[in-house]
Amino acid sequence: VKLSPSTESLPLGAKLADAAALLRYHRDCRRLAPEPVRVWSDLDEYAELLERHAGMALRDARVLEVGYGARPWRMLALLASGVDAIGVDAEVPVLAGRPSEYREAVRRNGVERAAKSLARRALFDRREWQAFRAELAKRGLPERLEPERFLVSDAAELELPADSLDLVTSEDVFEHVRRSSLTALVPKLARWLRPGGLALIRPNVFTGITGGHHPEWYAYTLSGPPRRRRTDPWEHLRRDRRRPNTSLNRLSRADYRRLFRESFEILEERVAQPDLGREWLTPELAAELSAYGEDELFSNRVLFVMRPLAR
Ligand SMILES: C[S@@+](CC[C@H](N)C(=O)[O-])C[C@H]1O[C@@H](n2cnc3c(N)ncnc32)[C@H](O)[C@@H]1O
Repeated sequence: VKLSPSTESLPLGAKLADAAALLRYHRDCRRLAPEPVRVWSDLDEYAELLERHAGMALRDARVLEVGYGARPWRMLALLASGVDAIGVDAEVPVLAGRPSEYREAVRRNGVERAAKSLARRALFDRREWQAFRAELAKRGLPERLEPERFLVSDAAELELPADSLDLVTSEDVFEHVRRSSLTALVPKLARWLRPGGLALIRPNVFTGITGGHHPEWYAYTLSGPPRRRRTDPWEHLRRDRRRPNTSLNRLSRADYRRLFRESFEILEERVAQPDLGREWLTPELAAELSAYGEDELFSNRVLFVMRPLAR
């Protein structure tokens, strides 16, 4: 497994092109339900899996979200639902948009990340908060920010008591965590979970068509109208000409299985979009990528449903 270099080394032009692509992405996503509305279906999925595999209701669970992100809608939805949740992220979130939060974000995340938060806030926050508040009103739930529940740390360096959690969740994070951190983090997660607890970890697996995290190949672009692209499908497994503006550990689905099996029993693997990109896999390309099975090439966001091994 190759480790990607830090994105610090990306030239400014590439960073700007990426920022423009992200803006286009957010504009195009206006066709979809906004993110703060979509996250509630993740909570429904967590509740269903927790009930089925651990025999408990989500509202009674002690939850940890790994990598809640700059706009932590899932954590906010869990807290509003009265769930005893904490989250950990390597970066400081901007929750209420107070100047002190931006100062802290610059101090800890650096200027580039803080500028991104500011741009996001100017462009999208109003609409997203409106959508989130409308959803809370529809569900009859209160708004709860509770900043003390948003821990800021490399998740691998966090210390929690053994057996102190019923559920661990993580969405679109593990592909960004350094391999050395993952090998420390995964056994910790298993230890923090009570026996019979559940881990729901959903990375965007590197070997899938979206795994290179190149905006040209984001999942939503594959179902939309034809578009001009400068890179080829599965570019990141082939010529790899264009690095994304994010660090990736390049773990394959098989790598995740090996890593998780040291501490967990894998109960299920759910692929978000099982045939994503099939129309791009011509016989010639399949021959070129023959080192990867369909299991890898048609991975994208894969939910690993796992129970800690008996200690
Ligand atoms: C692509 S974002 C996903 C955020 C959120 N889960 C979502 O779905 O919108 C990845 C997040 O993982 C966090 N992250 C990456 N490595 C981490 C680590 N070692 N410990 C904690 N958080 C980490 C990043 O700071 C970032 O917020």
